[in-house]
Amino acid sequence: MKGVILAGGLGTRLYPLTHVTNKHLLPVYDKPMIYYPIETLVNAGVTDILIVTSGPHVGHFLGVLKNGKELGVRHLEYAYQEKPDGGIADALSLAEDFADGDSVMVILGDNTTDADLSGNVRDFTEGALIFLKRVPDPQRFGIAVFDKEDMQKVIRIDEKPKEPDGDMAVTGLYMYDKHVFEIIKRIEPSARGELEITDVNNAYIQDGKLGWAELNGFWSDAGTFDSLYVSNSYWAKKKGDVSSE
Ligand code: TTP
Repeated sequence: MKGVILAGGLGTRLYPLTHVTNKHLLPVYDKPMIYYPIETLVNAGVTDILIVTSGPHVGHFLGVLKNGKELGVRHLEYAYQEKPDGGIADALSLAEDFADGDSVMVILGDNTTDADLSGNVRDFTEGALIFLKRVPDPQRFGIAVFDKEDMQKVIRIDEKPKEPDGDMAVTGLYMYDKHVFEIIKRIEPSARGELEITDVNNAYIQDGKLGWAELNGFWSDAGTFDSLYVSNSYWAKKKGDVSSE
């Protein structure tokens, strides 16, 4: 299993901070945001990692991460997404050569979690596995809709539904077999002009190959001022000498 961290995008919701550097290098408590997904991968035993990035600050990654050794990465590669807002699936498409027929564990570069994914990495064989988390505001996320007859079975994923059919959000952590790259080639850009990861996941559902697991632990993105604050505050309380006041 190889690891892919998607750190392209424009980070417009964090302007003016993202005029300073790439969103994924902004601090979350005591380290740059991207350290968290790297550590999630390394702790799960995935040490062969590709970072897909874009935008005006791409050079900053090398200075911060170098060859990744300090973080326990055995092999670190970088790829450049030409259209920074081409979409998450567009960013993932750049990992095809790197994956070289292997399965990939994909994490969005602004997602932090303390869940242990080593069991999922060990047990993964084929298809796709998405990680779900119950949320209070399902309108903001891709929401997994379950079969009323078989509550273990996801029948579709609704992207940011106005009237959500559930509250289990699709987090920014995914595992895919080698077929993901053929699927990305088949999907079309959405109304907002992006290749959507939800369309990739729905294609796996059509093929009967999508599994899911509940993410056990804290999880948040950090792409808005509110969620960046939530992430900072969680990690500060967990790791730092900061009171819960
Ligand atoms: P988003 O937060 O949806 O998009 P963004 O990072 O461009 O931010 P904004 O909406 O504020 O402009 O993306 C979530 C993550 O997915 C982001 O942290 C990086 C990754 N991503 C890419 O790698 N390439 C892309 O084309 C997009 C849209 C996102």
